[in-house]
Amino acid sequence: MGCMMSFSVDLESAKRFVSEEELKQFKVKAEEALKSLESKNGLGSDFLGWHDYPLSYDKEEFERIKKAALTIQRTSEVLVVIGIGGSYLGAKAAIDALSPYFENDGVEVIFAGNSISSSYLTQLKDYLWDKDFSVNVISKSGTTTEPAIAFRFILDILKKKYMKEELKEHIFLTTDKEKGALREIGLKNGYEMFTVPQDMGGRYSVFSAVGLLPIASKGYDIDKLLLGAKDAYKAFLGNNNSYAMEYAIYRNALLSKNFDIEILESYEPCLQFVSEWWKQLFGESEGKEGKGIYPASCIFTTDLHSMGQYVQEGRRNLFETVINVKVPKQDLDIPFDKDNTDGLNYIASKSIDYVNKTAMEATSKAHFDGGVPQIRINIEEIDEYNLGYLFYFFMKSCAISGYVLGVNPFNQPGVEAYKVNMFKMLGKPGYEK
Ligand code: PA5
Repeated sequence: MGCMMSFSVDLESAKRFVSEEELKQFKVKAEEALKSLESKNGLGSDFLGWHDYPLSYDKEEFERIKKAALTIQRTSEVLVVIGIGGSYLGAKAAIDALSPYFENDGVEVIFAGNSISSSYLTQLKDYLWDKDFSVNVISKSGTTTEPAIAFRFILDILKKKYMKEELKEHIFLTTDKEKGALREIGLKNGYEMFTVPQDMGGRYSVFSAVGLLPIASKGYDIDKLLLGAKDAYKAFLGNNNSYAMEYAIYRNALLSKNFDIEILESYEPCLQFVSEWWKQLFGESEGKEGKGIYPASCIFTTDLHSMGQYVQEGRRNLFETVINVKVPKQDLDIPFDKDNTDGLNYIASKSIDYVNKTAMEATSKAHFDGGVPQIRINIEEIDEYNLGYLFYFFMKSCAISGYVLGVNPFNQPGVEAYKVNMFKMLGKPGYEK
């Protein structure tokens, strides 16, 4: 399977903002972090299932995922993926990145249960009513409120549309293999079930059935996705000088110089949800105990016309990490116009991607001159392989970075606070006091 890969991380700009001495200190910490991570004796080490998953994944379940994806493609115009947080962001990121902007070939994948918007659910019900559709409910705990509410409504429509036996070809549950309400529903009704590994938090689960079933159902190559992850796993394993280490070292070094907001930027709009996935990964892994780098995101050049002013001249606590896609999916040349009323002939015959890349270089220089350090991540192209590599790079780097910061990058105790208040206010049994 030939895959184009020329992954690299460019730190030239960031280097100017931290001294060699400072970098050395963080390198030592990162080496300790890598050791703890790989010998599984650091904080949260019972949640390291993701680390060697690109090799150790359940091969039998992997084949079932492919089969279920074919069933969905055969029976359905639409797949509704119900899940929130780590239970949907990876799949959404990959599908958006890989899909064409306009045509919608194959199964349409719609996400639900990631908000409690009454308008969204009402409109979704109406949209689905006259369509053949399937549902993949994804919840590790099997009890999360947002997806549970959405599933009630979707199940109700499915039951009205299909006979009991037919239903089994339309309902797929991805959850814990031992516990939770979703698992009980599956067992009681004989729906096909897939596993969210117990030793894997949601934000680290994109390579499990959580990400793979929706991605395969949309028709994308999950073998290639896992191959990218596997190659990244091998490149970073036991390697004190890997790109994953460098990214973790520079993030922490920049934080020590009060750069406490990181903006993930890309010049390709289809990567917007890669940024959303990344925000959860780093925000939930590092934002605890009063620590962390606040993860933000921009799509350029779009947001240069809204956030550009702040990045250039606002508070000087920002650094930027740019995902540079070397080869676009398509490119086209700017045509010559003999009247030249719009004054664009100076770039006639140049390609749009050349102009986009020039905008990237011009922005980097302007932001550097304005005091914004930059880390640049270069990927060859947007395909399954490169995405798999990129996702794994971020996961490994995030784990190292969290350890360097001195937190447990695998728990999320703060997520419970709003739930407890909401359950009290809604009168959920057990939350009266
Ligand atoms: O990363 C996480 O742990 C969270 O974002 C969860 O994925 C999210 O809260 C959904 O939880 P569950 O999969 O249990 O429904």
